[in-house]
Amino acid sequence: MTKNLFAQITGLGMCVPPKILTNADLEKMVDTSDEWITQRTGIKERHLVEGETLSDLSVIAAREALQDAGLKGEDLDLIIVSTTTPDMQFPSTSCLVQKELGAKKAACFDLAAACTGFIYGLSVANQFIISETYKNILLIGGEVLSSITDWQDRSTCVLFGDGAGAVILEPTREEKGIISVYLAADGNFADFLKVPAGGSRQPATIKTVQQRLHFLKMRGNETFKVAVRAMGEAAKEALSLAGLSSKDVDCLIPHQANIRIIKAAAKRLGLDEDKVFINVEKYGNMSSASSAVALYEAVKCGKVKQGSIVVMTAFGSGFTSGGCVIRW
Ligand code: ACO
Repeated sequence: MTKNLFAQITGLGMCVPPKILTNADLEKMVDTSDEWITQRTGIKERHLVEGETLSDLSVIAAREALQDAGLKGEDLDLIIVSTTTPDMQFPSTSCLVQKELGAKKAACFDLAAACTGFIYGLSVANQFIISETYKNILLIGGEVLSSITDWQDRSTCVLFGDGAGAVILEPTREEKGIISVYLAADGNFADFLKVPAGGSRQPATIKTVQQRLHFLKMRGNETFKVAVRAMGEAAKEALSLAGLSSKDVDCLIPHQANIRIIKAAAKRLGLDEDKVFINVEKYGNMSSASSAVALYEAVKCGKVKQGSIVVMTAFGSGFTSGGCVIRW
């Protein structure tokens, strides 16, 4: 009997722009302090673009992932870019990445599920692989959140950063790679975290610009409460689908929005902090890129090893949430 197919991650890459904005820098821009930002969020600094585009960051991350997997651009069957800050409304950023990589035979699309986008992307890539539609898939989680950040709003501008992470997924008959994925959404919370204008509902006008409606708006406190619950639940659901429990987890890679959300979600799962990967202090919340970059760093620093059971969990605008179990 033929064994089941699994989607395995065979290559990893990442890119953050060189410019760093520290909490001390932010103290000079808005009425805030390093102490407030550190205590409330765990963030110390974030990387911001200075002219680089999302596709620039994505291509650098993708090239590293391709090299890691021993593949070339022309080997790719599909490119997915998960983002809420594409270079342009259209064409999709994935098409711009395809051109730079010379990935002539790859189908391309962008995917929007905010901070949960990388896990949604893993789910989509997994389906294309196990259905034997495609073999070599490039998934990128990337954001230039600084382009929608209101630098006059202290309640949000301290939180976000720019970056991109990339993975290559390929089929394997060994029982490794993506073991389960759980996705969820609740559009009742759509108003809690949004960019009100710039879409077809409120196209750009002088008034929308003057009213600062092209910037991200968040009801932070309410979002925080739902995030803790949803990230814990998504991880539990994914573990249950995999027939595993918290005791089996070697490394939890939560969406890096806020240290307090991460710790609370880990507590809900009954996991010790040494099993939780955290890098929010260096990058802030990079939305879709956060999970991809955290996975990259968890593997490269040896926290995730061959055979490790990894659980990824994320939460974002929509609200969306998702969990994924990977046997590394
Ligand atoms: N510096 C100093 N004071 C501040 C700042 C700041 N940067 N920002 C807000 N404050 C003040 C507020 O004005 C308020 O003052 P008041 O008590 O005098 O009114 C006080 O600090 C407390 O404000 P809260 O909003 O209640 O602070 P909270 O503890 O909730 O922390 C935070 C705010 C960090 C935003 C938190 O709510 C959070 O992390 N929320 C979730 C974010 C998230 O996970 N988003 C989901 C993913 S993002 C995506 O999808 C793109």
